[in-house]
Amino acid sequence: MDKKLEKLINEQITKEYYSSYLYLSMAAYFESMGLTGFTAWMKIQAEEEMIHMRMFFTYVNERGGRVILESIDKPPADFESIKDVFEQTLEHEKLVTASINNLYKVSKDINDNASTIFLQWFITEQVEEEKNAKDIIDRLALIKEDPMGILMIDKELGSRPQPVAPAAA
Ligand code: FEO
Repeated sequence: MDKKLEKLINEQITKEYYSSYLYLSMAAYFESMGLTGFTAWMKIQAEEEMIHMRMFFTYVNERGGRVILESIDKPPADFESIKDVFEQTLEHEKLVTASINNLYKVSKDINDNASTIFLQWFITEQVEEEKNAKDIIDRLALIKEDPMGILMIDKELGSRPQPVAPAAA
């Protein structure tokens, strides 16, 4: 496969791995607060990122490229509040969206149709990723710091279903 795209997808593998690490760290923060639903939601988010990572990993190999793993940065361990966690989640997802959009543009520039089609799934996925974080931020804003409201959201987030990996993962 095209060497520039191969390098960028390798970087994306590291980004997805870091995303998983970041969300696992957020899960640990919620666990320390006894918020079991928020914890479960973030653990599932972390699992989803590993699915994304594996999809890129598999794709590079399928195209005859070479996966090179890089080191993963240390994620933050402390957060100011529940809201701060989801604001950081949204900001992080926006960075991932920009990164995916760049991959998509490069694939189009080099007329790599297979990669363009492969990347379309991620473009759709990023819309959902950003929406999920924003919905929770909006609900947290509604209840402000009300403990009963937080427990209600905690209960609801605890029922998030396990992620289903697309065939490519
Ligand atoms: Fe892999 Fe949250 O995007």
